[in-house]
Amino acid sequence: MAKDPKYINKIPDPKTGKIIYDETEEITWRFLVARQNRLIQNRACKEFLRGLELLDFAHKVPQHFEMSEILRSHTGWSVAPVPEIIPAEEFFTLLKNKQFPSANFIRVPEEVDYLKEPDIFHEIYGHCPLLTNQDYGDYMQEYGRLALTVKGKERMRLFRLFWFTIEFGLLKENGNYRAYGGGILSSSKETVWAVDDESPDRISLDPMTALRTPYRIDILQPVYFVVENLPALFKTLEKDLISMAKESLLLGDLPSKFSLKNQDGEVSSGVY
Ligand SMILES: [Fe+2]
Repeated sequence: MAKDPKYINKIPDPKTGKIIYDETEEITWRFLVARQNRLIQNRACKEFLRGLELLDFAHKVPQHFEMSEILRSHTGWSVAPVPEIIPAEEFFTLLKNKQFPSANFIRVPEEVDYLKEPDIFHEIYGHCPLLTNQDYGDYMQEYGRLALTVKGKERMRLFRLFWFTIEFGLLKENGNYRAYGGGILSSSKETVWAVDDESPDRISLDPMTALRTPYRIDILQPVYFVVENLPALFKTLEKDLISMAKESLLLGDLPSKFSLKNQDGEVSSGVY
């Protein structure tokens, strides 16, 4: 994916280590948090809502060291400030070491609803609340360890599991669908679509099916995978996922529910 030149990471103040956000950026953050806090009621899982209370994002763009202090006290995780895009090897190594990589720039007001690059709102609001939960944190860590044991096409296949769980996972809570995926919970449209809309398929998470299901990054997801709860999510890693990733390459993709081409007529860079 080509990097948008208007989105570059901010440099911390040399004296305080803090990142300075200007008034427009602070307003954008508060707008996004307030809108999303409303939308996720009865749509986010209870563990996410609890994490959100612990992290308290309402008043200002958070600093990574403030988030790290809170996460460490609950699960031992921390936030690692990284450049906008980092190599996969570095990304998975950070996860294995319980460090969540996060860019620190924030979207411009003209793109408040959607941008391709993950900004600080997606990273911190979307993912960090659940890093106060041990089962979710353990899943993320173990996923990072597993991803480092494979390369190339097999790693790309394994990334589908990341996509359909950490980014776009649903779970069941008292018989209702609730979101735990950060890609859902940092998007106003996807939050409503994933939980309420009748259009998308919602199917029980079977790792082989997920590994054989292509996705695109630039559309509302047509299919979501559902787990019973976060401990059950962690249990999916007890299966031999590396062998399954290899086998999924031999079996090939399941029929996709979308055009492989994006609105520009090109094969989407997000089709993996
Ligand atoms: Fe993400």
